[in-house]
Amino acid sequence: MKNIAVLASGGGSNLQAIIDAIESGDIKNAKIAAVISNNKNAFALERAKKHNIETFVLVVNDNLSLSEKRKNYTRQIINILKSQKIDLVCLAGFMLILDSEIFEPEFYKNKILNIHPSLLPDFGGVGMYGKNVHKAVFESGVKKSGATVHFVINECDKGPIVLQEATDISILKSPNEIATEVLKIEHKIYPEAIKMVLEEKVVF
Ligand code: GRF
Repeated sequence: MKNIAVLASGGGSNLQAIIDAIESGDIKNAKIAAVISNNKNAFALERAKKHNIETFVLVVNDNLSLSEKRKNYTRQIINILKSQKIDLVCLAGFMLILDSEIFEPEFYKNKILNIHPSLLPDFGGVGMYGKNVHKAVFESGVKKSGATVHFVINECDKGPIVLQEATDISILKSPNEIATEVLKIEHKIYPEAIKMVLEEKVVF
């Protein structure tokens, strides 16, 4: 049995897609052993509790310098990953940047995934998250967008890609419409990518 941790700051619809894929048997021999959030009001935590999944809320100390703060919450995450014997970490709308300590080989190799709402490497990097991505995509006039699941490395949105799927957005009229279409893809490819990684069909 593989233990998964999902890190989420918001609504948690990707968390829900992972829960559903485990409950339906699409992802086998795995359980979510921790949902971790920096936001005590995240709806993701409610989704987890509804499915009897253990939840953890990080204590983020805003009185510390940015780098100390980052180190501090990352240590809390590492401690949870160790105590819950986590095999795979899935970032799903997690809004905090992780400290490099988590990228020590024994943690990060084949172990941390993220979902990004664009066709990386396009529209990725610092500041490219949530609505910012869909606004930039819309304003650029590109005809396609989509979602990407990638391994996380110590460079924002730069890790090796596990799965990517595109959709035609040429007739869509706003960033919100793009977000809705891309989210459908996210819910499909994140569980697929997790399954591939857990079955060791993809390594880096
Ligand atoms: C998704 O668009 C994901 O790609 C991005 O944040 C959003 C999270 O949505 N990283 P949800 O919380 O899973 O509903």
